[in-house]
Amino acid sequence: MTSLFIKKDLTRLINDASDTNADTHEGPKLKRTLGAFNLTTLGIGAIIGAGIFSLTGAAAANYAGPGIVYSFVIGGILCAFAGLCYSELASMVPVSGSAYAYTYATMGEFIAWIIGWDLVLEYAFGAVTVATSWSGYLISLLSKTLGIQFPDLVYQLTKGPWEMATLPSGVQLSGIWNLPASIICLIMAAILYRGMKESAFVNNLIVIAKMVIICSFIILGWGVIDSSNWVANPAATGLSALVPAYGASTRGGVEFMSFGWPGVLTGAGVVFFAYIGFDAVSTAAQEAKNPQKDLPIGILSSLVICTVLYILMALVMTGVVPYKELGVPDPVAVGVDRIITLRGWLPIAGKTLSFLVKFGALAGLTSVILVMMMGNTRVLYAMSKDGLLPWFSKVHPTFQTPYIATVLTGIFASLCAGLMPMSLVGELVSIGTLLAFVLVCLGVPILRITNPNAKRPFRTPFHWPVSILGAAACLWVMSGLPSDTWIRLFVWLAIGFVIYFTYSVKNSKLRRQ
Ligand code: ALA
Repeated sequence: MTSLFIKKDLTRLINDASDTNADTHEGPKLKRTLGAFNLTTLGIGAIIGAGIFSLTGAAAANYAGPGIVYSFVIGGILCAFAGLCYSELASMVPVSGSAYAYTYATMGEFIAWIIGWDLVLEYAFGAVTVATSWSGYLISLLSKTLGIQFPDLVYQLTKGPWEMATLPSGVQLSGIWNLPASIICLIMAAILYRGMKESAFVNNLIVIAKMVIICSFIILGWGVIDSSNWVANPAATGLSALVPAYGASTRGGVEFMSFGWPGVLTGAGVVFFAYIGFDAVSTAAQEAKNPQKDLPIGILSSLVICTVLYILMALVMTGVVPYKELGVPDPVAVGVDRIITLRGWLPIAGKTLSFLVKFGALAGLTSVILVMMMGNTRVLYAMSKDGLLPWFSKVHPTFQTPYIATVLTGIFASLCAGLMPMSLVGELVSIGTLLAFVLVCLGVPILRITNPNAKRPFRTPFHWPVSILGAAACLWVMSGLPSDTWIRLFVWLAIGFVIYFTYSVKNSKLRRQ
């Protein structure tokens, strides 16, 4: 029983990952190519995607109203707690497996297995979820914005067999296979196979494109905000209209706190998905040039930049469009259309801007798929290196990437993206991520107690309140997720237990030692 909780020695764990530890007989190693800038853009690449481009509207329309702005603030604070804890552990234990590796040193092998398996869930299904959203934006860009007419079969090939495809006429036909989602997963896998430097370069280009689009949206929208769309306090004007005033919350027929704080909190649970991804930075630890210093920079700066952008975007979206109209799959596009109308621009300018926004959304989603798949391959690599999984630790002799993990991740994501509906996997990704955050938050105080003298290049400030509040907040958001999401999580973990007890216990390198 105790061997289930066998722990890795911290010093040994760090040595195993170090380049100076010349265990060259183990074959080629991952290549250190990433600096602070690339790590930050990797974080932004993974964070900004389907959450802001698709989910925000429904969260505002159904749960939080214009109070979605507060939902983003709450989501940002929760992630800041987890981000600080990730930063401490990532700078202390800069190895590929991220939360999996930290847990191996803090809570032992079995819990590490659970978290590693759970990270696979987060990253693989994160990529799948975003790929299905990518497919939706692509067909909308081609058919609605560019006016291309496709035969019915093409629409059926943008939805999996358990979903309905809606034709431009409004007729619904059953889906066959989500082909664009499958293809984008394979393309991203091919880029990752080629090399980390190349992947980071592609990611940088995409991040620049999406940042330009998002900043333009904020700047163009800011000037035409109608604060009566936000009103919390009838006597207030401008930004002060966002301060909630109970009992007197209507003006112009719009209610700021129409759903109250419970709605804002539920909204925070939904928009949490929009923040997922900053943790993927830590999986690239063994490819960072100076991980101790640059990982915390990458994790925290990407989180801060995205939090600020999200809050500004939520202000603009709910400020230009009454929140009840935002419950659509492409709320940002609706916002852009309204900005164009409010500014009185010619239809041609409207079309161009609408095209650019959808293009920016597509770009945004592409980099999320890329970085999520990268995270998945690095976690599989780390677990396989420890003997808990077969094959995945093989590194390509020329490209220095974990190529078997990359190929299998690409095939798995491509199949799931072709077949699975987004609704099935989206919340599963959130619950899996939250579970990882809980263990990372708890890992900080545990390591402070068990290894008080270990070198900590980054120290979480006020680590007791930050880690306990972080873990409690994540558990609280998890408790608000629907019961079928919990059931799916348990099914996924049960599959993991079967693999652990049939393969990993026999092959664990730590046990053999
Ligand atoms: N945060 C990522 C997104 O919103 C997962 O797409």
